[in-house]
Amino acid sequence: MEVNILTLCYLIAAVTFIVGLKMLSHPETARRGNGVAAAGMTLAILGTIFLYKDKDAPGGLHNYSWIFAGILIGGIIGTMAARRVKMTAMPELVSLFNGMGGACAALISLIEFGHLAHNNFETTTVNSVVTDVYVLNNVSTQPVATGTVLIILLGLIIGSISFAGSVIAWGKLNGKIKDYSFRGQHVMNLVLLGLLVLLAAYIIGWLPVHASLYFYLVFAMALIYGVFFVLPIGGADMPVVISLLNSFTGVAAACGGFLYNNKVMLTGGILVGAAGTLLTILMCKAMNRSLGNVLIGSFGSPKGGATQNKTQGLYKEISLADAAVVMAYSNKIMIVPGYGLAVAQAQHVCHELEKLLTEKGVEVRYAIHPVAGRMPGHMNVLLAEADVNYDKLLEMEVANEEFQTTDVVLVLGANDVVNPAAKSDSSSPIYGMPILDVELAKTIIVNKRSMKPGYAGIENDLFFRPKTSMLFGDAKKVLQDLIAEIKNV
Ligand code: TAP
Repeated sequence: MEVNILTLCYLIAAVTFIVGLKMLSHPETARRGNGVAAAGMTLAILGTIFLYKDKDAPGGLHNYSWIFAGILIGGIIGTMAARRVKMTAMPELVSLFNGMGGACAALISLIEFGHLAHNNFETTTVNSVVTDVYVLNNVSTQPVATGTVLIILLGLIIGSISFAGSVIAWGKLNGKIKDYSFRGQHVMNLVLLGLLVLLAAYIIGWLPVHASLYFYLVFAMALIYGVFFVLPIGGADMPVVISLLNSFTGVAAACGGFLYNNKVMLTGGILVGAAGTLLTILMCKAMNRSLGNVLIGSFGSPKGGATQNKTQGLYKEISLADAAVVMAYSNKIMIVPGYGLAVAQAQHVCHELEKLLTEKGVEVRYAIHPVAGRMPGHMNVLLAEADVNYDKLLEMEVANEEFQTTDVVLVLGANDVVNPAAKSDSSSPIYGMPILDVELAKTIIVNKRSMKPGYAGIENDLFFRPKTSMLFGDAKKVLQDLIAEIKNV
């Protein structure tokens, strides 16, 4: 009966994961969706702790003090880290948490291989050949189940790569680790991966003498591969890589589900694996880059960007007072938020400006580019934090249809996502990336602190075009001053 209740707990948990994931796809339901999935996970964990029984543990689990001490310590660290993290440092935290997931999957494989070796291997001589054989209750001999070794090795390799790669990604994002590459690194990585796969296949197919030694060698090689796989990738490409590593962690966790015949672990792992893969593909698509291009990396790394810089003539500036007048007397304004808005933490003051203009009878909307900022949905989350009404946010395709009837586009800390080179300059590293067609509007006001390039490291011809005026300064300060000026208009 208890086993049935546990199965029911797992079933409910699996359903909450799917429902939660679905709810995450809309900002209004995302927070609740997270809660729903977390509640399901809590149910699955508590169910396992109190109801799990099998032939190895007929009386259930006993080591409660260890289990709850672990949950408590991990829970406190996780809560503190999540509460303290700044929005702009979110990808770092996600990377670190993801790395922990990979480490867990690898640990499961290490422990289960240890059990397998301890319980079932015995070095013996069969037909004059020294070999490891599977000894069941010290009575019969038969080969170790190939499927089990395969799953253990898969979990070990994928989990270790994900762990090591995520830690490097975390270090790169917070500036502790610099981009590092050397000639032939990609070839070396391929050779390392090839050797890793061959060694794993050798263990699975032949279960050689000293299988444990080879197993730990695979573990070490997977960790090294994880480090060298991520090290050369441009630091700013990390969100894509983190999403890819996230999908690896999901697959590694699903291996644990196979191993323990645990449906909820399997479902959770597959959902993370599939969601991570889809997100990786969508991010690459929105940047018009192949995954191979991201992994081999030129765009986003200092080398790629520097070569694209060229001086492009004169730009004109607009004063705060003039910008205030132009905006106050407009009918329709479109705000284009970008990474700089997040850096300046100007989302609240931006919302204030929107409300003020709306009170003055101006129609104000936000044009959201899918890869504006540095993580998926960055601008949506940022503006939601300031209570901006979700109906005011227009997706890129819809916004592009609206620009023609827009009086003023206010670009706030965005750069690449409004760069016309993506359409016109086939030599540009962002050529082909869909952009916000802000140039269709009557007037464009660009706020940033200088003429420095954005993420792609390239100049933006938009800043030099006749319809564009630059409004220099930190986004928060500029918006505060703009509000004061508009109140006086
Ligand atoms: P960027 O092209 O990175 O430009 C941001 C601009 O903000 C910079 O030019 C910077 O100019 C300005 N800025 C920085 N701090 C500011 C502040 N305090 N006040 C005002 N302006 C400030 O940003 P974007 O247009 O949002 O484009 C995002 C880029 O990131 C794209 O190339 C995209 O492919 C890439 N990317 C995105 C993601 C996701 S998933 N969102 C993932 C990886 C890569 P100044 O220094 O002159 O102020």
